[in-house]
Amino acid sequence: MKTGRLQDKVCIITGAARGIGATTARVFAREGAPVTVVDIRPDLGNKVVDEIKKAGGRAIYCSCDVTKSAEVKKMVDATVKEFGTINVLFNNAGTAIEGTVETLSEENWDKTFTINVKSMFLCSKHVVPIMRKGGGGVIIHQASESGLIGFPMHPAYCASKGAVINLTRSMALGHVADKIRVNCICPGTIPTPLYHEFMDQLPNKDEVVESLKREHPLGLGTEEDIANAALFLASDESRYMTGSALVVDGGYTAK
Ligand SMILES: NC(=O)c1ccc[n+]([C@@H]2O[C@H](COP(=O)([O-])OP(=O)(O)OC[C@H]3O[C@@H](n4cnc5c(N)ncnc54)[C@H](O)[C@@H]3O)[C@@H](O)[C@H]2O)c1
Repeated sequence: MKTGRLQDKVCIITGAARGIGATTARVFAREGAPVTVVDIRPDLGNKVVDEIKKAGGRAIYCSCDVTKSAEVKKMVDATVKEFGTINVLFNNAGTAIEGTVETLSEENWDKTFTINVKSMFLCSKHVVPIMRKGGGGVIIHQASESGLIGFPMHPAYCASKGAVINLTRSMALGHVADKIRVNCICPGTIPTPLYHEFMDQLPNKDEVVESLKREHPLGLGTEEDIANAALFLASDESRYMTGSALVVDGGYTAK
């Protein structure tokens, strides 16, 4: 019998109702993983679960705002109840809000950090004890090329993704003894629903889109490009990696 690259590895993926998270959920399930699809969009999240089940995979949908500790705990408990343990946590949920330090509201600064960074702290906090009990695991954080270089139109987003990269390093070192590997991904620009919503906020959208296309040496990426990187980090193929920032950006930051 053919076994997948994540056969029977129980995976939680946050922000999995659409975009990169949804594609990753389909890829992980195809590779044999039971998947908890976590999001605040039940219609889209349940659709992803239905698709996975129709393809012969295992998945549940959990409505959970990952910025709320009590909701995260419930989601983690529901996963353990359904699948028995947790082997992989992909902290993927995120947001991007346009605005310079002058134009961005204080509320949107806080919102960016709460969704992009605090959620990773909360999900990891509730998952680590279960992984430790199970003898180890893998945590993947979704960072960005925006964590490595500056973009003028969203300083809060850039700062939050920089924080994610160093959170990754700190957690990697902190959980070696627990046999939990912690890595992050730095995707380039990927046309997803978030990408389109973000671009629509820009007064000079067409100009920005054209320059991004031009400046990524391999062009813009796909959701599958990032899902495949997450698959590698989730699997034992990356067993010698922890504390890394895996750059998957079509060469953008090589310049
Ligand atoms: N698209 C890109 O170009 C790009 C580039 C680099 C990094 N990223 C990162 O990849 C991740 C996914 O991005 P995407 O483009 O697929 O976005 P997306 O908006 O298409 O999908 C993100 C999902 O996260 C969910 N979400 C948001 N806040 C949540 C919360 N509080 N609780 C639970 N779920 C929540 C949304 O409902 C949505 O379904 C984000 O962390 C983003 O910053 C994206």
